[in-house]
Amino acid sequence: MANRTHNNNELRLSHVGSVVELKGWVAKARNKGGLIFIDLRDRFGITQLVIDQSVASTELYETAEKARNEFIIYVKGEVVERSSKNPNLPTGDIEIKVNNMEIISTAETTPIIISDETDALEDTRLKYRYLDLRRPKMQQNIILRSKIVNVVRNYLHQNEFIEIETPILTKSTPEGARDYLVPSRVHPGEFYALPQSPQIFKQLCMVAGFEKYYQIARCFRDEDLRADRQPEFTQIDIETSFFTAEEIQTLVEKMLVIIMKEFKNVDIKAPFDRITFHEAMTRFGSDKPDRRYKLELVELNDVFKNTTFSVFASTLSNEGFIRAINVKNGAEKYSRKEIDRLTDIAKKYGAKGLAFLKYENNDFTGSISKFLSSDEKVALINKLAIENNDLILFVADKFSVSCDALGAIRKQIANEMKLINENDFNFLWVVDWPLFEYNEENKRYVAAHHPFTSPQKDSVKFLESEPSKCLAQAYDVVLNGFELGGGSIRIHNSELQAQMFKTLGFTKEEAYAQFGFLMDAFRYGTPPHGGIALGLDRLVMLLVNAESIRDVIAFPKTASASDLMTQAPSPVAEAQLKELSIKVRE
Ligand code: AMO
Ligand code: AMP
Repeated sequence: MANRTHNNNELRLSHVGSVVELKGWVAKARNKGGLIFIDLRDRFGITQLVIDQSVASTELYETAEKARNEFIIYVKGEVVERSSKNPNLPTGDIEIKVNNMEIISTAETTPIIISDETDALEDTRLKYRYLDLRRPKMQQNIILRSKIVNVVRNYLHQNEFIEIETPILTKSTPEGARDYLVPSRVHPGEFYALPQSPQIFKQLCMVAGFEKYYQIARCFRDEDLRADRQPEFTQIDIETSFFTAEEIQTLVEKMLVIIMKEFKNVDIKAPFDRITFHEAMTRFGSDKPDRRYKLELVELNDVFKNTTFSVFASTLSNEGFIRAINVKNGAEKYSRKEIDRLTDIAKKYGAKGLAFLKYENNDFTGSISKFLSSDEKVALINKLAIENNDLILFVADKFSVSCDALGAIRKQIANEMKLINENDFNFLWVVDWPLFEYNEENKRYVAAHHPFTSPQKDSVKFLESEPSKCLAQAYDVVLNGFELGGGSIRIHNSELQAQMFKTLGFTKEEAYAQFGFLMDAFRYGTPPHGGIALGLDRLVMLLVNAESIRDVIAFPKTASASDLMTQAPSPVAEAQLKELSIKVRE
């Protein structure tokens, strides 16, 4: 058995007459009474084989009869023109008249069918991931991922970035999720933390003078998982010295423009729009707005200042907000029952209800219509540009709840009413983030990003007195409603860093215990620096229109962070625990 002469996507009419040798998996075998057709598959594509009993040796024909789905075979034969061509296959004009076949490897019936479309449950796909990954669609996802990484690497190298690996066994980092811990055998009772990101190390690379760092970095976060979140994921991680925030954004925009051209053949306009965090929340109820559709949130506090509806009145007296979205042509589509379903969604996001109005035949109906005065009706029609057949949905609550609830409803309705153009790629920067978030539970401020994010110049004066007023030199890049990446300019001045820790409620000793090595490093000549990290998994997911990042990660974990194939996590032998000085509590 010789090496193959071609892959299974290569042969065309121009090869007719030549003798070729191919290898691959049997994707499909059909016996049409004396004529056996086999679709031979490899990573590159499919070639049709034909074995004709009337001309084949008995041995060849018997071998062909044995070839079942997913067997691996070797064939030698002549390329011939096909009588019935298949325009859907690049090799559809030809087939191979086989005169020699060997079975290289046999296969049992696979628990999932190896084809693009699958009805296999995701648990089955994850348990037999190596078979799931054999499906051409999954192969394309993983191959595309590899190509994207290659383009990223080339781009960054052309821009004088160098890739530096940073430790996986390290100390707790400050991204705000729970750490994965690794016990030390040599130091009983002590633990490494897996990095939530290379944040501190990349800053130390700047102190070290590398100026332009990147890494295709694996990050580990023990947090609640969702379709776009995995416990381990990959960042395109970047840090620069002497770049301004705008320069970092431009660097990333250019990279994304190249990727979109190369892999989607679409021309993305750069610079991307920049909107402030406040504007994003006000107009879209989200810090990662999807602007492919309108459905913007409108504040109606003015309209309802004399309202007789007690819920709205008490919201206003508690300094809350009455906000609404106008669902164009939604009145007919959304029945009472359907609105109850939306109300449940709003409640999941903290709303106490979802009041609604329908405007039909120039008149309002709906849960709060009986409370509307004629002035309010006129004002509503103007403010929300209401026309017949519109549906208006209201949330009255504090600002953040109204954002979360209406933001979620906005997204839900856009999906249900098919308002989204799937071929649209809407990039934007969200800038001017708050530097702090107030943690109600612990009654203190926490870093909204991480504690090394620099405040904006005008905000420094509020660090002590009014932390909630401070804005950060931070920026997120958003694509179609997903946070693709986030970054910031860092603090490079020890005094400012000390002040930051103070606002965050760290004593000097506490700050030093956790980040002392960084504070020490900053004493020896620290360049102004900043960077960003993009979620590679999310980027690939959006480029291949996958519903989950699991579809673009070779071996992902389930929502409960387990690996169904290897059965990790799993108990370990008592002896291993003993070596680590660990006793598992009952
Ligand atoms: P941040 O925490 O915003 O920033 O993460 C950057 C990007 O990583 C992706 N991401 C994830 N992807 C999949 N699963 C997860 N669990 C997950 N968590 C985050 C997102 C996100 O935008 N060190 C800073 C970056 C910096 O300041 O330079 C950081 O890690 O796409
Ligand atoms: P109720 O007075 O509880 O019968 O509510 C009347 C309507 O107001 C219903 O459609 C509720 O879903 C809605 N509703 C109740 N609380 C709120 C709120 N905080 N924001 C918006 N709508 C609400």
